[in-house]
Amino acid sequence: MTLLQTSGCLRIDRAREVRIFNSKVQMMGTTLNVYAYIVDGMLIDSGPHRMRKGIEYFCTQNRLDKIVHTHFHEDHTGNTGYLMRKLRIPAYIHANSIDICQEKGIIPVYRLVFWGNRRGFTAEALPSIIENDHSTFKVIHTPGHTQDHVVFLDKEEGQLFSGDLFVHPKTRVTRRTENIPLLMESLRKLLQESFATVYCAHAGKISDGYNLVKQKLAHLEDLQDQVLTRFNKGLGIKMIVQEIFPQTPTIAYYSFGEFFFV
Ligand SMILES: [Fe+2]
Repeated sequence: MTLLQTSGCLRIDRAREVRIFNSKVQMMGTTLNVYAYIVDGMLIDSGPHRMRKGIEYFCTQNRLDKIVHTHFHEDHTGNTGYLMRKLRIPAYIHANSIDICQEKGIIPVYRLVFWGNRRGFTAEALPSIIENDHSTFKVIHTPGHTQDHVVFLDKEEGQLFSGDLFVHPKTRVTRRTENIPLLMESLRKLLQESFATVYCAHAGKISDGYNLVKQKLAHLEDLQDQVLTRFNKGLGIKMIVQEIFPQTPTIAYYSFGEFFFV
């Protein structure tokens, strides 16, 4: 009887084990890491189209019954249409992005070169709670990076799948379309939750995740103070940027200004 119970627990533990896919893109002096995860039959983000073969292999080596997305960007949704057809599984994304994902991505050339494009797919709206065979995930809306961004929290395991919400404790560059004050609000909301390990789409597994999310918020609050202090002294935007961010990051050139310093 004991043996049977032990073996049952083992099966559940293995089902809840986080499987990790990782690949890199190197171009023009920039290296970008991509991570995708499978946990308890759920693929979290399908990676960029350029990594299709690797992602497909990863998916066929693990039990898979659905794809969920943290947001609509092409490096998170690039293989969804293909995998849905091939494996006959459903996909879910925030309700705000279902229409965007029906169509092929409209993205700048440098991102097409980096990631490849997203083919259109028909997703369903993410529920607020995802019930898998052996695990339950809370879906938390965390806008800022994009309006549809969500993270997936397994409260029981203390594991958070954070998409592009975290990436680095000291954010160095941001896109023009990002809303940093809103992202800060999302970080504050997230810090009300209990978790330890963070699984990031570009930084991988972070064991000290909660504290690093806290550090990221503190860093952004410090930057906000620096900007406001200068603004209240009467400095214009150009002068504030020159004082706080004296160097232009390489990505700002080849993204034609889509990326700039935070
Ligand atoms: Fe993103």
